[in-house]
Amino acid sequence: MQTLIRNGRIVTAVDDYHADILIEDGKVVMIGHKIDVKPDKNIDAKGKLVIPGGIDPHTHMELPFGGTAASDDFETGTRAAAFGGTTTIIDFAVQYKGQSLTQAIDAWFQKSEGKTCIDYGFHLICTDLPDDRLPQMKQMIREGVTSFKLFMAYPGVFLVDDATIYKAMQTSSEAGGLICMHAENGVVIDAIVRRALAEGKTAPKYHALTRPTKAEAEGVHRAIALAEIAGAPVYIVHLSCSDALDEVVRARDNGTPAYAETCPQYLFLDSSVYEKPGFEGAKYVMTPPIREKWNQDELWRGLKFNDLQVISTDHCPFCFKEQKELGRNDFSKIPNGGPGVEHRMSLIFNGGVAQGKISLNRFVEITSTAAAKIFGLFPRKGTIAVGSDADIVLFDPDEEMTISVKNHHMNVDYSAYEGMKVKGVTKTVLSRGEVIVDGGKFLGKKGRGEFLKRGLFNSPK
Ligand code: URP
Ligand code: ZN
Ligand code: ZN
Repeated sequence: MQTLIRNGRIVTAVDDYHADILIEDGKVVMIGHKIDVKPDKNIDAKGKLVIPGGIDPHTHMELPFGGTAASDDFETGTRAAAFGGTTTIIDFAVQYKGQSLTQAIDAWFQKSEGKTCIDYGFHLICTDLPDDRLPQMKQMIREGVTSFKLFMAYPGVFLVDDATIYKAMQTSSEAGGLICMHAENGVVIDAIVRRALAEGKTAPKYHALTRPTKAEAEGVHRAIALAEIAGAPVYIVHLSCSDALDEVVRARDNGTPAYAETCPQYLFLDSSVYEKPGFEGAKYVMTPPIREKWNQDELWRGLKFNDLQVISTDHCPFCFKEQKELGRNDFSKIPNGGPGVEHRMSLIFNGGVAQGKISLNRFVEITSTAAAKIFGLFPRKGTIAVGSDADIVLFDPDEEMTISVKNHHMNVDYSAYEGMKVKGVTKTVLSRGEVIVDGGKFLGKKGRGEFLKRGLFNSPK
């Protein structure tokens, strides 16, 4: 099966040029001017940007949390991702106490089996790592699960102590793996939360008021210090604020291999969301919380100058009516997380490129290429090059759309960006050469997504 994309403006993290792309059996086989073949399928990309499929390295489909589970499963969540131009996700499997790492991954294979619409990999959240289980990390790495998330937050649920973090960093880095850190001082936060509740402060806004930026900065500082002691790289997930970013900047300026992602919610929403009437603020109960507006400029600066490398979504939706409701009388019982997997590309194009904050190449780099490099998928994913998977998005930089629960495809009853007008719309999506989205229709099949055995961490700049 041959497909030819004609007349496109190809934009990668480093290039920007006009050429045709010939695809055969799911791979890019030729890039050139006026390629002279008679393909099975012709796609005219005139007026569109032709960019690598987006990679969202932080999603939580069906994550069990706070007595419920994230409302998107691997079918609805990956279909919504495809609509927005994301062709790869890396989701988080969870190891519960007493489980082997293999048991944990197997459980997530069962959840995803036959459901995913795009390609996917797994990180593994480790919650129970006694010394005799540490070697299992190396086994995971051999099986293509090459990154692990550890939590400094949520004592009693996910939190692991500093010694465990240090040992896990050492063990995984010896085998070429990477630790992703949820960096917040969860023990101190818990003390602040308990005090707030004792004072009768139960509304959603207290979620934000009990998680100070300094608690995140302290976590980032400690994560980086432990990584330096262990001689390991570290990747900070969902970095939300300037205080935390300062710690990453300091480390990177010293040559420490510290990396970090931020998410659209921290770039486009501010803490006024918690002042919405009634229980509305619960829609924005996620961790870290949405910060004061001035932090946004600092995050954009970090993205521009590569102190932040990646945009993920931390997609972890819970329906407002039934699930967020669990914390109506106690903000600490509101399931943490929000929806976002569908609109990452449009939001970042609109807020970044269209507003002149980042270049087109940088847009591609932070939404696709950098994640591919950091998480062992490059050059199969994250670029448009001969030999790469034909994960390609035709993106209209001029079209506008209004984000709304009325037109989104995520399985959740609200949008965090309701009514926001964005310029830059995904029109056509190819995943391994197959057109899976075109003209607002999903043309793929559930279960077509392939599990990606990822390579080792390979230290980008
Ligand atoms: O609120 C969030 N972020 N929920 C998902 C779990 C996590 O910490 O990433
Ligand atoms: Zn987290
Ligand atoms: Zn997360």
